Amino acid sequence: TWTSNNIIEEQVEAIRSRVGSKRVLCALSGGVDSAVAAALVHKAVGDQLTCVFVDHGLLRAGEAEQVEKDYVAATGINLKVVDASVRFLGALAGVIDPEQKRKIVGREFIRVFEQAARDLEAEEHVEFLVQGTLYPDVVESGGGTGTANIKSHHNVGGLPDDLQFALVEPLRTLFKDEVRAIGAALGLPEEIVMRHPFPGPGLSIRIIGAVDEERLAILRAADLIAREELTAAGLDRSVWQFPVVLLADVRSVGVQGDGRTYGHPIVLRPVSSDDAMTADWSRLPHELIAKISTRITNEVREVNRVVVDVTSKPPGTIEWE
Ligand code: XMP
Repeated sequence: TWTSNNIIEEQVEAIRSRVGSKRVLCALSGGVDSAVAAALVHKAVGDQLTCVFVDHGLLRAGEAEQVEKDYVAATGINLKVVDASVRFLGALAGVIDPEQKRKIVGREFIRVFEQAARDLEAEEHVEFLVQGTLYPDVVESGGGTGTANIKSHHNVGGLPDDLQFALVEPLRTLFKDEVRAIGAALGLPEEIVMRHPFPGPGLSIRIIGAVDEERLAILRAADLIAREELTAAGLDRSVWQFPVVLLADVRSVGVQGDGRTYGHPIVLRPVSSDDAMTADWSRLPHELIAKISTRITNEVREVNRVVVDVTSKPPGTIEWE
């Protein structure tokens, strides 16, 4: 029978016998998957594991801090942080096409991570690389049984051959809810274990239009309000994911304070789902939507309109890009 503890024991055994006394590397993304994968490997082989957190500057408010402080405090994992936000924003400058953004973030990630791996290799040979790949990632990227490639997920595929790591993917057969249960059983912070899924390319694919620091700041502020109010309403757990999207190249006329404004719309995209393969738009209480809308338009100067996405998946995907 399936229990978290069975899976943990089984995986710890499997990882131990495979890894032996070799060194292991893991990239933490800030999300649940890599956090749980790393914690499993850490339980199995302890300080033979080193984690690298590439801060690409595309995370939501507070997320980098949760990895750097809370997660490390809870696990005792050895973490190296690389602040690469300037580099990522430079590479993304002026790029509008969604697949292009994904490719750039994926490519830059590999370059930065490769460098961190080489620095580590200079100390001692690293044999294994941990990836937090889940079953739906495998299927959606076309690695499963004949499903079409819809969007290129940047955590499947891997690093250039000359780095030659063997992959350790302890979550490859699991769904999100199973991964969460395992994370909780491993004692990870609730803010990380219960965190909604978040795409590898981060906020870059929630800004419809080119990505820059100013637009990121607008989206972060709006996103934080939506998350705060969802949690305050006690509905955090009943929503699978709540992307907040900035239509950065769209403007509409509004009236705020005592004058005409010409600002950007924010899209709220709360969805319910079991595994992200299909999804339905969440019927959030109107009072909650009203509160979020009022706060965003009051507190985020550049936004003068809030709209709700009422499309299921299919035909819409969860993310806008
Ligand atoms: P879509 O937008 O295709 O998203 O309905 C399905 C789920 O996958 C997440 N997502 C990603 N996750 N790397 C990831 O690790 C990615 O490139 C990526 N793109 C989308 C999305 O947030 C949703 O949970």
